[in-house]
Amino acid sequence: MENSPQPSSLEPSNKQMDEALSKLSRRGFLLGAAALTSCAAAPPLVQRQTAPEAAPVKTASNSGYRTPSVSGAAPRNPDMPMPSNFGKNAGVTFSRVHVSGKYIAITFDDGPHPQNTPRLLDILRARNVKATFYVIGRSVNLYPQVLRRTVAEGHEIGNHSQTHRLLSKLSDSELRQEMSLCRDAVGRAAGVMPRTMRPPYGGLLQRQRELVRAEFGYPTILWSVDPLDWKRPGPGVVTSRILSGTSQGGIVLAHDLHSQTVDAMPATVDGLLRRGFQFVTVSQLIAMQIEAAPQASAAASS
Ligand code: NI
Repeated sequence: MENSPQPSSLEPSNKQMDEALSKLSRRGFLLGAAALTSCAAAPPLVQRQTAPEAAPVKTASNSGYRTPSVSGAAPRNPDMPMPSNFGKNAGVTFSRVHVSGKYIAITFDDGPHPQNTPRLLDILRARNVKATFYVIGRSVNLYPQVLRRTVAEGHEIGNHSQTHRLLSKLSDSELRQEMSLCRDAVGRAAGVMPRTMRPPYGGLLQRQRELVRAEFGYPTILWSVDPLDWKRPGPGVVTSRILSGTSQGGIVLAHDLHSQTVDAMPATVDGLLRRGFQFVTVSQLIAMQIEAAPQASAAASS
Protein backbone atom coordinates (compact mmCIF):
# COMPACT_ATOMS: atom_id res chain seq x y z
CA MET A 1 0.00 0.00 0.00
CA GLU A 2 1.76 3.14 -1.12
CA ASN A 3 1.11 6.21 0.86
CA SER A 4 1.95 9.69 -0.24
CA PRO A 5 4.38 11.19 2.25
CA GLN A 6 2.80 14.61 1.98
CA PRO A 7 1.16 15.49 5.26
CA SER A 8 -2.38 16.66 4.98
CA SER A 9 -3.59 19.93 6.32
CA LEU A 10 -6.91 18.87 7.66
CA GLU A 11 -9.37 21.35 8.98
CA PRO A 12 -7.57 24.40 7.65
CA SER A 13 -10.67 26.43 8.27
CA ASN A 14 -10.19 26.85 11.99
CA LYS A 15 -6.67 28.04 11.42
CA GLN A 16 -7.77 30.33 8.65
CA MET A 17 -10.49 31.67 10.84
CA ASP A 18 -8.11 32.23 13.72
CA GLU A 19 -5.81 34.15 11.41
CA ALA A 20 -8.69 36.18 10.05
CA LEU A 21 -9.87 36.93 13.54
CA SER A 22 -6.47 37.99 14.73
CA LYS A 23 -6.05 40.28 11.71
CA LEU A 24 -9.42 41.83 12.38
CA SER A 25 -8.75 42.29 16.06
CA ARG A 26 -5.37 43.84 15.31
CA ARG A 27 -7.26 46.42 13.30
CA GLY A 28 -9.61 46.97 16.20
CA PHE A 29 -12.64 45.59 14.41
CA LEU A 30 -13.45 43.08 17.11
CA LEU A 31 -12.98 45.20 20.19
CA GLY A 32 -16.71 45.43 20.72
CA ALA A 33 -17.64 42.03 19.39
CA ALA A 34 -15.09 39.85 21.12
CA ALA A 35 -17.09 39.45 24.29
CA LEU A 36 -20.11 38.33 22.29
CA THR A 37 -18.45 35.55 20.33
CA SER A 38 -17.31 32.92 22.78
CA CYS A 39 -19.03 30.07 20.94
CA ALA A 40 -17.71 28.31 17.85
CA ALA A 41 -20.11 30.01 15.46
CA ALA A 42 -18.57 32.45 13.02
CA PRO A 43 -19.02 35.99 14.24
CA PRO A 44 -20.91 38.23 11.83
CA LEU A 45 -17.87 40.42 11.16
CA VAL A 46 -16.01 37.56 9.51
CA GLN A 47 -16.58 36.75 5.87
CA ARG A 48 -18.41 33.45 5.51
CA GLN A 49 -16.06 31.96 2.96
CA THR A 50 -14.89 29.34 5.44
CA ALA A 51 -18.33 28.51 6.77
CA PRO A 52 -18.85 24.99 5.32
CA GLU A 53 -15.57 23.67 6.71
CA ALA A 54 -16.04 25.55 9.95
CA ALA A 55 -19.27 23.72 10.76
CA PRO A 56 -19.15 22.18 14.22
CA VAL A 57 -18.21 18.54 14.56
CA LYS A 58 -19.43 15.99 17.06
CA THR A 59 -17.44 16.03 20.26
CA ALA A 60 -18.02 14.88 23.80
CA SER A 61 -19.11 18.38 24.71
CA ASN A 62 -21.34 18.80 21.67
CA SER A 63 -23.76 15.92 21.98
CA GLY A 64 -26.42 17.85 20.12
CA TYR A 65 -24.42 17.72 16.91
CA ARG A 66 -26.30 16.84 13.75
CA THR A 67 -24.68 16.51 10.37
CA PRO A 68 -25.53 19.73 8.55
CA SER A 69 -27.66 19.69 5.46
CA VAL A 70 -25.90 20.59 2.28
CA SER A 71 -27.73 22.62 -0.29
CA GLY A 72 -28.01 20.93 -3.62
CA ALA A 73 -29.82 17.89 -2.64
CA ALA A 74 -28.09 14.65 -2.44
CA PRO A 75 -30.45 12.14 -0.86
CA ARG A 76 -29.92 11.97 2.85
CA ASN A 77 -29.58 9.01 5.16
CA PRO A 78 -31.91 9.39 8.16
CA ASP A 79 -30.38 9.91 11.58
CA MET A 80 -29.71 6.47 13.06
CA PRO A 81 -29.33 6.81 16.82
CA MET A 82 -29.38 3.05 17.29
CA PRO A 83 -27.60 0.97 19.88
CA SER A 84 -24.20 -0.32 18.86
CA ASN A 85 -23.49 -2.65 21.77
CA PHE A 86 -23.50 -6.33 21.02
CA GLY A 87 -22.99 -9.21 23.40
CA LYS A 88 -20.37 -11.90 23.69
CA ASN A 89 -22.65 -14.38 21.95
CA ALA A 90 -23.27 -12.19 18.91
CA GLY A 91 -21.04 -14.34 16.71
CA VAL A 92 -17.42 -14.86 15.74
CA THR A 93 -17.61 -14.04 12.02
CA PHE A 94 -19.98 -11.94 9.94
CA SER A 95 -20.15 -11.49 6.19
CA ARG A 96 -23.69 -10.10 6.53
CA VAL A 97 -26.18 -9.74 9.35
CA HIS A 98 -29.74 -11.03 9.55
CA VAL A 99 -31.82 -7.92 10.26
CA SER A 100 -35.48 -7.02 9.87
CA GLY A 101 -35.14 -3.81 7.86
CA LYS A 102 -33.26 -2.53 4.82
CA TYR A 103 -30.15 -1.76 6.81
CA ILE A 104 -26.65 -2.05 5.40
CA ALA A 105 -23.12 -1.15 6.48
CA ILE A 106 -20.55 0.30 4.12
CA THR A 107 -16.91 -0.24 5.06
CA PHE A 108 -13.68 1.34 3.86
CA ASP A 109 -10.37 -0.43 4.30
CA ASP A 110 -6.70 0.44 4.30
CA GLY A 111 -6.81 4.11 5.33
CA PRO A 112 -6.44 6.64 6.60
CA HIS A 113 -5.19 8.31 3.43
CA PRO A 114 -4.25 12.00 3.59
CA GLN A 115 -6.24 13.07 0.51
CA ASN A 116 -8.77 10.38 -0.34
CA THR A 117 -10.16 9.85 3.14
CA PRO A 118 -11.02 13.54 3.74
CA ARG A 119 -12.63 13.71 0.31
CA LEU A 120 -14.70 10.64 1.16
CA LEU A 121 -15.67 12.16 4.52
CA ASP A 122 -17.04 15.21 2.71
CA ILE A 123 -19.18 12.96 0.49
CA LEU A 124 -20.50 10.94 3.43
CA ARG A 125 -21.17 14.02 5.53
CA ALA A 126 -23.26 15.61 2.80
CA ARG A 127 -25.51 12.52 2.91
CA ASN A 128 -25.52 11.92 6.67
CA VAL A 129 -24.02 8.46 6.09
CA LYS A 130 -21.99 6.85 8.88
CA ALA A 131 -19.50 4.26 7.65
CA THR A 132 -17.03 1.90 9.26
CA PHE A 133 -13.33 2.40 8.53
CA TYR A 134 -10.96 -0.57 8.90
CA VAL A 135 -7.72 1.28 9.39
CA ILE A 136 -4.10 0.18 9.29
CA GLY A 137 -2.29 1.15 12.49
CA ARG A 138 0.82 2.20 10.63
CA SER A 139 -1.22 4.69 8.57
CA VAL A 140 -3.03 5.92 11.66
CA ASN A 141 0.37 6.83 13.09
CA LEU A 142 1.15 8.79 9.92
CA TYR A 143 -2.20 10.59 9.64
CA PRO A 144 -3.76 10.77 13.10
CA GLN A 145 -5.60 13.99 12.28
CA VAL A 146 -7.50 12.21 9.50
CA LEU A 147 -8.61 9.57 11.99
CA ARG A 148 -9.67 12.24 14.47
CA ARG A 149 -11.89 13.85 11.88
CA THR A 150 -13.35 10.46 10.93
CA VAL A 151 -14.30 9.79 14.55
CA ALA A 152 -15.54 13.33 15.12
CA GLU A 153 -17.97 12.95 12.25
CA GLY A 154 -19.57 9.88 13.78
CA HIS A 155 -17.96 7.02 11.88
CA GLU A 156 -16.89 3.75 13.44
CA ILE A 157 -13.28 2.59 13.46
CA GLY A 158 -12.34 -1.07 13.06
CA ASN A 159 -9.02 -2.86 13.43
CA HIS A 160 -7.33 -3.83 10.14
CA SER A 161 -4.01 -4.75 11.78
CA GLN A 162 -0.84 -2.75 12.24
CA THR A 163 1.04 -3.62 9.03
CA HIS A 164 -1.51 -5.33 6.73
CA ARG A 165 0.22 -8.68 6.65
CA LEU A 166 -1.58 -11.94 5.91
CA LEU A 167 -2.50 -12.80 9.47
CA SER A 168 -3.18 -16.47 8.79
CA LYS A 169 0.57 -16.98 8.38
CA LEU A 170 1.43 -15.48 11.75
CA SER A 171 2.01 -17.01 15.16
CA ASP A 172 -0.47 -16.24 17.90
CA SER A 173 1.91 -13.77 19.49
CA GLU A 174 2.45 -11.98 16.17
CA LEU A 175 -1.31 -11.89 15.63
CA ARG A 176 -1.82 -10.39 19.09
CA GLN A 177 0.81 -7.78 18.32
CA GLU A 178 -0.82 -6.84 14.99
CA MET A 179 -4.14 -6.36 16.78
CA SER A 180 -2.87 -4.56 19.85
CA LEU A 181 -0.57 -2.15 17.99
CA CYS A 182 -3.40 -1.04 15.71
CA ARG A 183 -5.82 -0.82 18.64
CA ASP A 184 -3.37 1.36 20.56
CA ALA A 185 -2.65 3.58 17.56
CA VAL A 186 -6.37 4.24 17.17
CA GLY A 187 -6.73 4.96 20.87
CA ARG A 188 -3.79 7.35 20.89
CA ALA A 189 -4.95 9.20 17.78
CA ALA A 190 -8.68 9.49 18.40
CA GLY A 191 -9.49 8.24 21.88
CA VAL A 192 -11.70 5.37 20.74
CA MET A 193 -11.29 1.60 20.67
CA PRO A 194 -12.11 -0.60 17.68
CA ARG A 195 -14.88 -3.11 18.41
CA THR A 196 -14.57 -5.29 15.33
CA MET A 197 -11.74 -6.37 13.07
CA ARG A 198 -11.30 -7.20 9.42
CA PRO A 199 -8.36 -9.38 8.42
CA PRO A 200 -6.25 -8.11 5.52
CA TYR A 201 -7.06 -10.21 2.41
CA GLY A 202 -9.88 -11.81 4.40
CA GLY A 203 -7.29 -14.25 5.69
CA LEU A 204 -7.82 -15.45 9.26
CA LEU A 205 -8.08 -19.06 10.44
CA GLN A 206 -11.11 -20.12 12.44
CA ARG A 207 -8.92 -20.72 15.46
CA GLN A 208 -7.48 -17.19 15.12
CA ARG A 209 -10.95 -15.69 14.76
CA GLU A 210 -11.92 -17.29 18.04
CA LEU A 211 -8.73 -15.97 19.62
CA VAL A 212 -9.40 -12.34 18.62
CA ARG A 213 -13.04 -12.68 19.67
CA ALA A 214 -12.05 -14.01 23.09
CA GLU A 215 -9.03 -11.82 23.77
CA PHE A 216 -9.92 -8.55 22.02
CA GLY A 217 -13.72 -8.85 21.81
CA TYR A 218 -13.61 -8.43 18.03
CA PRO A 219 -15.94 -10.30 15.75
CA THR A 220 -14.24 -10.93 12.40
CA ILE A 221 -16.03 -8.85 9.76
CA LEU A 222 -15.87 -10.04 6.15
CA TRP A 223 -18.31 -8.78 3.52
CA SER A 224 -21.24 -9.68 1.29
CA VAL A 225 -20.43 -7.26 -1.53
CA ASP A 226 -16.98 -6.92 -3.09
CA PRO A 227 -16.72 -4.54 -6.06
CA LEU A 228 -13.02 -5.41 -6.54
CA ASP A 229 -12.39 -1.67 -6.44
CA TRP A 230 -8.69 -2.21 -5.66
CA LYS A 231 -8.28 -3.39 -9.27
CA ARG A 232 -9.38 0.11 -10.35
CA PRO A 233 -12.06 -0.89 -12.85
CA GLY A 234 -13.38 2.69 -13.06
CA PRO A 235 -15.86 4.47 -10.82
CA GLY A 236 -18.89 3.49 -12.91
CA VAL A 237 -18.07 -0.20 -12.58
CA VAL A 238 -17.52 0.12 -8.83
CA THR A 239 -20.91 1.79 -8.50
CA SER A 240 -22.79 -0.75 -10.59
CA ARG A 241 -21.22 -3.72 -8.82
CA ILE A 242 -22.17 -2.34 -5.43
CA LEU A 243 -25.70 -1.39 -6.49
CA SER A 244 -26.36 -4.80 -8.01
CA GLY A 245 -24.78 -6.74 -5.17
CA THR A 246 -26.21 -5.06 -2.08
CA SER A 247 -29.12 -6.57 -0.18
CA GLN A 248 -30.68 -6.21 3.27
CA GLY A 249 -28.19 -6.75 6.06
CA GLY A 250 -25.29 -6.55 3.65
CA ILE A 251 -21.75 -5.43 4.40
CA VAL A 252 -20.14 -3.56 1.50
CA LEU A 253 -16.37 -3.72 1.08
CA ALA A 254 -14.51 -0.75 -0.41
CA HIS A 255 -11.14 0.96 0.00
CA ASP A 256 -10.67 4.64 0.75
CA LEU A 257 -7.05 4.21 -0.26
CA HIS A 258 -8.05 4.46 -3.92
CA SER A 259 -9.18 7.72 -5.50
CA GLN A 260 -11.40 5.86 -7.99
CA THR A 261 -13.34 4.33 -5.13
CA VAL A 262 -13.95 7.75 -3.65
CA ASP A 263 -14.96 9.02 -7.10
CA ALA A 264 -17.56 6.25 -7.22
CA MET A 265 -19.12 7.04 -3.87
CA PRO A 266 -21.54 9.89 -4.66
CA ALA A 267 -23.40 7.80 -7.24
CA THR A 268 -23.04 4.64 -5.15
CA VAL A 269 -24.38 6.10 -1.93
CA ASP A 270 -27.13 8.05 -3.68
CA GLY A 271 -28.17 4.93 -5.60
CA LEU A 272 -28.35 2.84 -2.43
CA LEU A 273 -30.36 5.53 -0.63
CA ARG A 274 -32.77 5.77 -3.57
CA ARG A 275 -33.26 1.99 -3.38
CA GLY A 276 -34.41 2.43 0.20
CA PHE A 277 -31.33 1.23 2.05
CA GLN A 278 -30.37 2.90 5.31
CA PHE A 279 -26.75 3.05 6.39
CA VAL A 280 -25.61 2.02 9.86
CA THR A 281 -22.20 1.15 11.25
CA VAL A 282 -21.04 -2.45 11.49
CA SER A 283 -21.55 -2.51 15.26
CA GLN A 284 -25.05 -1.12 14.88
CA LEU A 285 -25.81 -3.75 12.26
CA ILE A 286 -24.63 -6.55 14.55
CA ALA A 287 -26.55 -5.05 17.48
CA MET A 288 -29.80 -5.32 15.49
CA GLN A 289 -29.21 -8.94 14.52
CA ILE A 290 -32.49 -10.85 14.87
CA GLU A 291 -30.95 -14.28 15.21
CA ALA A 292 -27.46 -15.63 15.42
CA ALA A 293 -27.10 -17.75 12.32
CA PRO A 294 -23.87 -19.50 11.44
CA GLN A 295 -21.96 -17.31 9.02
CA ALA A 296 -20.32 -18.58 5.90
CA SER A 297 -16.79 -17.42 5.47
CA ALA A 298 -15.77 -15.38 2.47
CA ALA A 299 -12.43 -15.36 0.81
CA ALA A 300 -10.82 -12.77 -1.38
CA SER A 301 -9.01 -9.57 -0.90
CA SER A 302 -9.35 -6.73 1.49
NI1 NI B 1 -6.83 -4.25 3.44
